[in-house]
Amino acid sequence: MPILDDAQAMYNADTKGMLKALWELPEQCARAWELGMAADVSPMDNLRQVVVTGLGGSAIGGDLLRVYATQRLDVPVVVNRDYVLPKFVGPYTLVFAVSYSGNTEETLSAYVQAREKGARIVVLTTGGKLGELAGNDGVPVITVPGGIAPRSATGYLFIPTLAVLYRMGLLPDLSHEVAECTSLLQSMREKLKPEVPRDSNQAKMLAANFHNRIPVIWGSSGTTEVVAQRWKGQINENAKAPAYWNVFPELNHNELVGFEFPGELLRRLYVVILRDPQDHPRVQKRFAITREIMEGEVAGVVEIMARGSGTLARMYSLVYIGDYASVYLAMLYGVDPGPVRVIDTLKARLAEE
Ligand code: PA5
Repeated sequence: MPILDDAQAMYNADTKGMLKALWELPEQCARAWELGMAADVSPMDNLRQVVVTGLGGSAIGGDLLRVYATQRLDVPVVVNRDYVLPKFVGPYTLVFAVSYSGNTEETLSAYVQAREKGARIVVLTTGGKLGELAGNDGVPVITVPGGIAPRSATGYLFIPTLAVLYRMGLLPDLSHEVAECTSLLQSMREKLKPEVPRDSNQAKMLAANFHNRIPVIWGSSGTTEVVAQRWKGQINENAKAPAYWNVFPELNHNELVGFEFPGELLRRLYVVILRDPQDHPRVQKRFAITREIMEGEVAGVVEIMARGSGTLARMYSLVYIGDYASVYLAMLYGVDPGPVRVIDTLKARLAEE
């Protein structure tokens, strides 16, 4: 029986429980809001910037926040994926230091700098060295449950930041948005889960289209930009396969021009356009024209529309489909979606030095 039609075989091949974590994502989002609401934070005068510092699965929550907050916060949100914080970080900066393991060296370095610069810090982690340092420094720590892959903890590593910003008086109460997101994902999982056959499971159909091709994921400035990046990362880490992402309207000014050569490679690309009902009207026109220009050049183009009404639900509805598709793609390649040996090797070798 082909693997995508055999739910039990997929559960057996998934040694780290990525499918279980996906099933539990709706409840994770609800719990994440509660964790943020319970954090030991107080309002801050003269806030000038918010910085989220983290890597990989711990950084994407920063991008979700950046995109979410861009039309809602009066200050910019900057995501730092590096050892070094931007020069502007200082006493009027709120820094979220995020590391699921608590042991990622770039994040530890950035945390130490944030302390030296006198920034206000909130840590999100399961523990590790970051939890220990923050505990010793009296820095507020939001301790999130362990036992899953960092990239499966996107609710825990993002939604508490919304609650913290609400508690600091910088965002409105978003509990209704979190509730909508939770119930939307609860209904979506019934259609995306392994037991649902391929011809009625959108994530399985996507995985089949990605198989032996290179996925190219396009979003637009606004909610879907970060989701495109998320899909790419999930395909890389779960399916151990390449994928690329870009964003409208910028890609209309460069990437699209590059869809002429080499023809035999272009025909191995499968393009996904992630859409949101609130995309800028001119960008919506660009989707159709772009599709026309490139349709015959690549293996296929599909458009996927976000669901839900609130921004959070709309973003997570697309994240959820991509997360499931990346795990199904791992199954098609015969790899275990959970382990990320390359990252582990790199971290271990760097730790030896
Ligand atoms: O998904 C993963 O496993 C990685 O992208 C990690 O998130 C990344 O290596 C950073 O580790 P951590 O999230 O523990 O800080």
